[in-house]
Amino acid sequence: MTRVLVCGATGKLGAPICAAIAAADDLTLAGRVARSLTGGEGFATISAAIAATQAQLVVDVTAPEVAEAHTLTALQAGLPVVLGTTGLDAAAATRVDAAARAAGVPVLYAPNFAITAVLMMRFAAEAAKVLGQCAIIEEHNPAKVDRPSGTALRTADLVEASSGTRPQISSIRIDGVVANQTVLFGAEAQTLEIRNVTTSREAFVPGVLLAVRRITTLAPGLHVGLEHVLD
Ligand SMILES: NC(=O)c1ccc[n+]([C@@H]2O[C@H](COP(=O)([O-])OP(=O)(O)OC[C@H]3O[C@@H](n4cnc5c(N)ncnc54)[C@H](OP(=O)(O)O)[C@@H]3O)[C@@H](O)[C@H]2O)c1
Repeated sequence: MTRVLVCGATGKLGAPICAAIAAADDLTLAGRVARSLTGGEGFATISAAIAATQAQLVVDVTAPEVAEAHTLTALQAGLPVVLGTTGLDAAAATRVDAAARAAGVPVLYAPNFAITAVLMMRFAAEAAKVLGQCAIIEEHNPAKVDRPSGTALRTADLVEASSGTRPQISSIRIDGVVANQTVLFGAEAQTLEIRNVTTSREAFVPGVLLAVRRITTLAPGLHVGLEHVLD
């Protein structure tokens, strides 16, 4: 039984993750972290939770301003981290990678846990080898803080690596949407659209469980993308 600590446990994503971990035969919900959790409910800080729970790995789905600090705290305790909080910039990624290597444990940063989204990115990278023109249109609800989305930035990185050209990104914030993205390719008299739609945050839970179960197969350091544990 792997003992998992969930930071952001009361959130829209964290709550279904906690429920799925608690229900899994091979996982134990070691503790829940959120500032509003006190007493027997959970822990207000990750440090208090690590000290009290004998957790073996950490899942962080909190907020961009605190996710790096949570990750570094977990690494100092020697715990692998499944990082789902989006908005990790290049400088923070460098710091996390260095800390993970020093600690000798992996961090898996997945900008999108939806398995269909990971396949969308994989197929987009493949199409970009052949089709030169590409644009990314991402749609989220207005509550999403970071813009463009982490998925759009990751897709742009993959397309640029395949084609040598960075695609333009359009970000739409509108009610009724959870997380959608279209990758649009253009060529003479033809277009190709690769579209991913998620209808609820439940879409992210199977990918989180996959990451939790497989993260310890990864080498020490930062790994970006659920694809590292998909195949
Ligand atoms: N990778 C993916 O596939 C994916 C999918 C969906 C969302 N996300 C990302 O996941 C993150 C959370 O999204 P959400 O919609 O679940 O947000 P949310 O509903 O606002 O939940 C945020 C959670 O983090 C906690 N929190 C915030 N600041 C904290 C702090 N300083 N210390 C401890 N806990 C803190 C909140 O509780 P308190 O306020 O009580 O502290 C709450 O439990 C965002 O970055 C979002 O973009 C990623």
